[in-house]
Amino acid sequence: MSELLTIDSIHVSYGNIKALKDVSMHVDQGDIVCLIGANGAGKSTLLKAIVGLEPLVEGNISLDGEVIATTQMSGSSRHIKLFRRSGAAGTSSLRTDQIAGLGVALVPEGRRVFADMSVEENLDMGAFLVRDEQLIAKKKEEMYDFFPILGSRRKQKTRSLSGGEQQMMAIARALMSSPRLLLLDEPGLGLAPLIVADIFDKIRIINQEENVTVFLVEQNARMALKASNHGYVMENGRIVLSDKSEKLLADEKVRAAYLGE
Ligand SMILES: Nc1ncnc2c1ncn2[C@@H]1O[C@H](COP(=O)(O)OP(=O)(O)O)[C@@H](O)[C@H]1O
Ligand SMILES: [Mg+2]
Repeated sequence: MSELLTIDSIHVSYGNIKALKDVSMHVDQGDIVCLIGANGAGKSTLLKAIVGLEPLVEGNISLDGEVIATTQMSGSSRHIKLFRRSGAAGTSSLRTDQIAGLGVALVPEGRRVFADMSVEENLDMGAFLVRDEQLIAKKKEEMYDFFPILGSRRKQKTRSLSGGEQQMMAIARALMSSPRLLLLDEPGLGLAPLIVADIFDKIRIINQEENVTVFLVEQNARMALKASNHGYVMENGRIVLSDKSEKLLADEKVRAAYLGE
């Protein structure tokens, strides 16, 4: 399998706080990969770095083997002429909208839906890079078929939806741009176990039937490891374990620290 996302020895800081320390990992094309870790481990920071929302202090991030963020301007990336410089360390990276244009969609932590907009308007926001109106209409119908609850509520204000329904809508919004890589930041956060199971089922179907590569970040280690093929464990900004998800589910240290056993 070829690597779709490659994280190569990245460091990210918030002032004096070193949030990510020498993080390396990858996501193969077509795979579902999860990253588990406690609150504050650095999971969201990694996703923000991938979509260009946090500058790197060191390291490289590549998509399909092409650098999209780096601190070393070697001149090897196809995207280099598009890079903007940011951060004290002089990171060069694509802008968030350019990364979205390469097929990367993030469902942020806490969903970040537009509560006063209707379901349909939220989905329209997800298609901001799509110019073809017919394609937008077709994608919306696909989303209403895939998430029937959204179809029956399309004109309703998003704030009237339950937490689980809002999470479904946030995922549908991300899918409106037909991404190759879907990044999910704690899709199960604050939701009842049955709803979480439902959401993870949908994620598996999106991966298998729509051929979308998935990188999933979760505190809910059991659900994330069951849903994924490969897993990484993050502690205090470092990757401390990486293995097939089924191996991690059976690992004694993982069971004690993350599965409450
Ligand atoms: N905007 C920020 N400013 C300062 N510190 C931050 C900011 N965002 C996150 N942090 C800190 O960085 C560390 C990693 O946070 P985060 O990536 O949100 O972890 P996780 O998503 O695993 O809970 C934590 O110590 C957190 O307090
Ligand atoms: Mg987080």
